[in-house]
Amino acid sequence: MGEILRIHGGYRLEGEVSVSGGKNAAAAIIPAAMLALGPCTVENLPDNEDSHVYMEMLRWLGAKVEMGKGVMHIDATTVDRCNPPAELASKMRASYYLVPVLLGLLGRAEVPMPGGCNIGARPIDQTIKGMTSLGAQVRQERGMIIAEAGELVGSDVYLDMPSVGATVNTMLTAVMARGNTVIYNAAKEPHVVDLANFLGSLGASVKGAGTDIIRIRGGRPLHGSSYAIIPDQIETGTLMIAAAATCGDVTITGAIPPHMEALSAKLLEMGVHISEDDDRIRVRANGKLRAVSVKTQAYPGFPTDLQQPMTALLSIASGTSVVNERIFESRFRYVDELLRMGADISMIDSRTAIVNGVEKLTGARITATDLRAGAAMVVAGLIADGVTDIDNFHYIQRGYENLDEKLRSLGAHVERIRVP
Ligand code: EPU
Repeated sequence: MGEILRIHGGYRLEGEVSVSGGKNAAAAIIPAAMLALGPCTVENLPDNEDSHVYMEMLRWLGAKVEMGKGVMHIDATTVDRCNPPAELASKMRASYYLVPVLLGLLGRAEVPMPGGCNIGARPIDQTIKGMTSLGAQVRQERGMIIAEAGELVGSDVYLDMPSVGATVNTMLTAVMARGNTVIYNAAKEPHVVDLANFLGSLGASVKGAGTDIIRIRGGRPLHGSSYAIIPDQIETGTLMIAAAATCGDVTITGAIPPHMEALSAKLLEMGVHISEDDDRIRVRANGKLRAVSVKTQAYPGFPTDLQQPMTALLSIASGTSVVNERIFESRFRYVDELLRMGADISMIDSRTAIVNGVEKLTGARITATDLRAGAAMVVAGLIADGVTDIDNFHYIQRGYENLDEKLRSLGAHVERIRVP
């Protein structure tokens, strides 16, 4: 049995909704918690599939893990296995964050090549460079990453691009290495900063996260801590886009408005009203929205993870929008689904879409081809006339906690239906 998401489109979203903890922050913080020499409590944990997969994987490695509502307790002092099983590791991208962690704890890691969304090639050369610069021997063999190290020693690491994964993996290696590490051209995403703050709460010395240069003094013993994960930037953005798409009036609570600048600027340009408070963002739209051009970039640029729901919104904006994907090579697979709903989108090449705004979309049976494609399908379904059935709802559940419930609370007509 699987599940589809059925949306009766055309209802305006209205009201208040709170955002969950960050998926990609949790993805880095849960394995980082294993480095502590005592129990850690991770709060504001998103209840999504990735969190459950992590729990099973950490238990398999020998850690004591308990999960409650929005919280995970982790005591990894008993970890004695270095090889998480492929059937779990392949379910998510972040499983390779276990490589530096197991390397630091046990001197050896055998981790299956990471899974995650099918959005084009996702090389790991920068991760390997970071870890080898600090003294690890890393090789890829039989679909596994195998890493070994005697002593890890801090070093300068220059990343060719500000990769989130390579920055996280190098940080996790560096806190366990003797001496100083400097990561140049580091990723600046909010979840990288959150990981640095979490490591700080364990007693690590990590400075400069959120800028291009992160300095780590490694080798300190790390103690347990309690830490609350930041709100999810991409869930916040998805809800903002959904509000604008339905000409709604939605206040998103528990958010961090500065994380949303790139999206807010684009929505303002389209004619959406946005007001912000400390941790609240109100999004109001009425009437026709204007087309805009969007180019995805590393933070603080427009996030690639919002490109898909944004394109769904642009499909009904008046005029022609150009959407250019700069981060991943194949992140437009979902466009075919939007075309089935009546959108007018043409691809100039695999990274550039020309979106001619249409009056309306029409409900159809469509498929979520990956997590954020699923978010685009949801936005399209909310806008469309009639009924939209979205297959592969499990992709959406990978990264959004209770999205259907949250949308219902705002007045959307959304239901999950079990299908053979
Ligand atoms: N890259 C390389 N070599 C490397 C690493 C990256 O060439 O060794 C390239 C990639 O091919 C890509 C670019 O650098 O073109 C950026 O990749 P990055 O490493 O930053 O991405 P990631 O760590 O694999 C994380 C998020 C993604 C998000 C990207 C970009 C996690 C678990 N995943 O992926 O999230 O799209 O950063 O912000 O944090 C999602 O949530 O749907 C998602 C895919």
